[in-house]
Amino acid sequence: MRFEVRDRDVAGRIGRFDTGGPVVTTPELMPVINPHEPTVDPKDIERIGFEAVITNAYIVWKDEDLRERAVDEGIHSVVGFDGFVMTDSGSFQLAEYGDVEVDNRTIVEFQAEIGSDVGTILDIPTPPDAPREVAERDVKTTVERAKEAVECEERPPLALTVQGSTYPDLREKCAAELGELPAAVHPIGGVVPLLEDYRFADVVDVVMAAKKALPPEKPVHLFGCGHPLAIPLAVAMGCDLFDSASYALYAKTGRYLSVLGTLRLEEMRWFPCRCPVCSRYDPQDLREMPEEERVELLALHNLNELRRVIDTVRCAISGGELWELVEATCRSHPAAWAGLVRLSSRYGDELARWSPSVKRSLKVYDEVSKGRPELHIYRDRMRGRFGGVEGRRIVKAGRRPYDVEWLESWELAFVDEWLGLVPGELTRTFPCHSLVEPSGFERRRDDGEDRRSGGRRGDEGRRR
Ligand code: GUN
Ligand code: ZN
Repeated sequence: MRFEVRDRDVAGRIGRFDTGGPVVTTPELMPVINPHEPTVDPKDIERIGFEAVITNAYIVWKDEDLRERAVDEGIHSVVGFDGFVMTDSGSFQLAEYGDVEVDNRTIVEFQAEIGSDVGTILDIPTPPDAPREVAERDVKTTVERAKEAVECEERPPLALTVQGSTYPDLREKCAAELGELPAAVHPIGGVVPLLEDYRFADVVDVVMAAKKALPPEKPVHLFGCGHPLAIPLAVAMGCDLFDSASYALYAKTGRYLSVLGTLRLEEMRWFPCRCPVCSRYDPQDLREMPEEERVELLALHNLNELRRVIDTVRCAISGGELWELVEATCRSHPAAWAGLVRLSSRYGDELARWSPSVKRSLKVYDEVSKGRPELHIYRDRMRGRFGGVEGRRIVKAGRRPYDVEWLESWELAFVDEWLGLVPGELTRTFPCHSLVEPSGFERRRDDGEDRRSGGRRGDEGRRR
């Protein structure tokens, strides 16, 4: 069992997740396959580029035919997918219907028997805002079940799920206790109702509380999150795996995932996408098709869109621009923006523990950008290693890099809108030198003069 981190940005990482079977590159989204009636051919899921899928072991276990086939041929053969197959335990059914017919030990051993690449305990998802006693009791049971699963003679690589409703201290406690056990992955559970209600700020609190106590070397799965708006934000907090049934559920109700959000096929005149489906058909073609064919094609497009989101996140991590991607994505919906505001205002220093500290450049836009982890790292270092700016003459910063003379730089400290105080000798170092800010692109008629003057001339002066 290995999770190797190959690259990082903010608290996000590109990893290689190996539980002994097919290897998965993370961040990755696992499309949900319904073992009774897959909406698309699982081979198409593989062709689009997904390395992993998730299916429900409880549904397989309950159906005599499927159960027998899974035991004989293995779960990969039943779902028709050669890559990584994670299974869930029936906890979701437990949350939806209040009861399941299987116990924890039975479903854990069954997942080993059918060859799951990762199997899940029968954790108890507590709804948001549940009474504290209920959340406490469910965490206790979930942790007991995790311990029982670890002791099972036949067990798959295990997903030990963090619960705790909307109580950050319970999330933290649950994470700390599960973190002691030999898990393959730690899902964060019970967040589907928050995601459905677009309560992104609460999702941020829940994830950050769990991440605080989880072992950093373990991959983290955000259970039931396949929302294109939430994925970049969640990756930035250190979530590595996602799963989604939305591609199929949305397709069944004529909804089309796009950069603009979810669109209704009924109202569309153009497809803003160049996937194989959208290249070949236009919205009217799809509307005129028999339902089954339309649903399959819409589901295929939705999968392509999710693939684009995941691959964009990977590019952003490797390019050191994950924070920029999160700001841009979260701008597309006020609820997502509320999530980012929460992350930036409360957790920037926590993210700074994981973020690379030096990059080519940093883009800053507004107050939210001021919370980005690289700026926290700068402020901490300035206060710590450089001992602050005591005794220096404080000067208002001009145009970057403030054109300070080397010799006088030691006596000066600049007030920088984004960084706070900057000792003169640091003005040509990262991040001071490399901030890309809105005011850097204003037209300056007196540019030559401004550059020589060693200080900002004031807004009036520059707008003359
Ligand atoms: N799927 C969505 N949410 C959950 C959860 O909290 N636990 C499990 N096991 N599966 C889920
Ligand atoms: Zn498309």
